[in-house]
Amino acid sequence: MMMVWESFVFHILTVIITVSLGVYTYFQWAFKYWEKKGIPYVTPNFPFGTIKLFSYPPLPFGEMCKQYYNEYKAKGYKHVGLYVFSRPLYLVLDVEYIRNILSKDFDHFVDRGIYYNEKDDALSGNLFTIEGTKWKNLRAKITPTFTSGKMKMMFQILVESGSHMKDAIDIMRSKDSAINIKDTLSRFTMNTIGSYAFGHETSSTTMTFCLFELTQHLDIQENVRQEINEVLKRHNGEITYDALTEMKYMGQVINETLRKYPPSACLNRKCVKDYKLPDTNIEISSGTAIAIPVLAVHHDPEYFTDPEKFDPDRFSEENKSLIKPYTYLPFGEGPRICIGLRFGLLQTKMGLAVLLKNYRFTLNEKTKLPLKMDPFSTFVSNTEEDIWLNVEKIKQNEY
Ligand code: HEM
Repeated sequence: MMMVWESFVFHILTVIITVSLGVYTYFQWAFKYWEKKGIPYVTPNFPFGTIKLFSYPPLPFGEMCKQYYNEYKAKGYKHVGLYVFSRPLYLVLDVEYIRNILSKDFDHFVDRGIYYNEKDDALSGNLFTIEGTKWKNLRAKITPTFTSGKMKMMFQILVESGSHMKDAIDIMRSKDSAINIKDTLSRFTMNTIGSYAFGHETSSTTMTFCLFELTQHLDIQENVRQEINEVLKRHNGEITYDALTEMKYMGQVINETLRKYPPSACLNRKCVKDYKLPDTNIEISSGTAIAIPVLAVHHDPEYFTDPEKFDPDRFSEENKSLIKPYTYLPFGEGPRICIGLRFGLLQTKMGLAVLLKNYRFTLNEKTKLPLKMDPFSTFVSNTEEDIWLNVEKIKQNEY
């Protein structure tokens, strides 16, 4: 009996060692990919490759891309090869390359390469994930939904959701003067976006970070509020579609929020046709995953002076033309640019108009600073901890 047991253990150990050696050898072979291509690369470690999600403390994907971007751009490189486990990932550093991938040579990079399985999960196959001709056809079909005319028709839903949010905040305030803003705003956007069957946190994250910054810059908060009141005076006190369009300074504040905190820290693309990089002999092979490091570019002092400073004037009428094309990408670019861009901005403006017209915000001590991004949030950057704001009601006759 003892002999049988020993032989069993021996066999199991042999299998484990053989499989481990096989996997290890495979990874060592896979890790030669970028070297063979002649592309500079970050030295990978078994088994995670170059990702730092499992390091201590874990680093969010967008932050990791930002670190590699800064390090390899400083060395004068236009691109760098990474590995997600054994899988190669091409990180683009050069703005001209970014433009080529997103727009000029888009036909080589039509897909995002995000896994979906329509058979077992019907909702996973949506405009964001689907590929090739199927995507092209659906995009053409959905595009008319987002024209100004249709948006005006959807506007009533925004008005109603805004009013519900205000009622909810009044009830919350009667119990506690601090509110969990992330939670409150995600309910507001769920109410509106949910009505159009897009499962999307982008607008609520934008509003959350915007209000956070406005608690750090009370003068800017007051300027936005002044603008809201001035514009609303011309519109009988009603938040209409045209009134929101007239709120230019608020638009600048939102643009700056999206620069500092882009909800998609990285854009994804998949090479679908072998692609020769212009003026080189380097070929990006079909099937290669591509990452465009939006967060890193938005925080690059070459493109945005003093990048950590929250400065809505970067987007003023006279300054916005100074922004280099393809360095400001909160909605992506090219044929796969966010289809809900204008609706997202409209919704964000509506949320902010309702909130700032009625309440004054300061940061509650329950909020842990500095804000830390959740390393495990997938497509939309989110904070690890909740953001708590003190809410003070503005009296009717104050303005
Ligand atoms: C502030 C709000 C929003 C931000 C920052 C945002 C950001 C983005 C980004 C970065 C992409 C990827 C673009 C690319 O890969 O080049 C995207 C795609 C997309 N977004 Fe948005 N989004 C917002 C609001 C919305 C809203 C409100 C909707 C729908 C009502 C929406 C629907 C979509 C769809 C369907 C795609 C996929 C488009 C395609 O592949 O053709 N987004 N968004």
